[in-house]
Amino acid sequence: MKGLIVAAGYGTRFLPVTKTIPKEMLPLIDKPSIAFIVEEFIASGIDEILIITSRRKKMLDDFFDREIELEGVFEAEGNELKAAKIKPYDAKFFFVRQQEMMGTGHALMQARPMLDGAPFVVAYPDDLHFGEKPLAGQLIEKYNETGCSVMATIHNPPNLERYGILKLAADNLHVTDIVEKPEPGTAPSCEASIGRYLYTPELFNYLEEGWEKHSGGEYYHTYALNKLMSKGKVVYKETEGERLDTGAPSGYLRAILKYAKQDPELAAVMREELSSL
Ligand code: G1P
Repeated sequence: MKGLIVAAGYGTRFLPVTKTIPKEMLPLIDKPSIAFIVEEFIASGIDEILIITSRRKKMLDDFFDREIELEGVFEAEGNELKAAKIKPYDAKFFFVRQQEMMGTGHALMQARPMLDGAPFVVAYPDDLHFGEKPLAGQLIEKYNETGCSVMATIHNPPNLERYGILKLAADNLHVTDIVEKPEPGTAPSCEASIGRYLYTPELFNYLEEGWEKHSGGEYYHTYALNKLMSKGKVVYKETEGERLDTGAPSGYLRAILKYAKQDPELAAVMREELSSL
């Protein structure tokens, strides 16, 4: 199983910092948000990770590379703690650039040569998962049980109308449709799609079929997903653990607070600051 992170977007909700720093490198204190996804993948047994980037994102390649100079400095100092912090992840990284911002469907198509022939997990970098069981691993487990593509969901979040909501088959497992951002009161279920998917390679055939019919503008993966759904080949998995949406400043702040409170020193600072609110 390979992992794919779709990280080509502009990150406009975080301007001006994202003029030069990729959104995926914005840290929770000391760790870039994309590293949480990489750790989730590795904990799920995924050791080949493909990242779809774009022009402004060279920093991502560097982050996942070795830092030989610092390694030398820490080795000479005998500083094992610092050495451990810069140790590269135990996975192979591949990068492919999306040359034009043409939507998620188009981004996924860039990955075909490296992913074709095997199922793979896709992560949107705005969705972080905290919990005992890594989310990608939960999807892999569901795939192993069903042989189907799997969509991760959260159950009945506030503001259902901000999500893609799944329509479910009578077996309460297969997904028959997805309604993007339904009007209040019209959601077809309480299962809201989040940014983790496991796709079987069949997806690429439908992505290309849809691309041929596509008449310009951004191209999403909705056509391909609908095709898989109509053939009864998509199931859902309700996320165990906590999902954090770092796609906008408020969710990003919440993720920082959740992460920081695990450290007693930072938790003490938070208590102090929050008591004056
Ligand atoms: C995307 C998906 C949507 C999903 C959401 C989760 O929407 O299209 O189905 O519910 O991510 O964060 P976006 O938030 O990019 O508008």
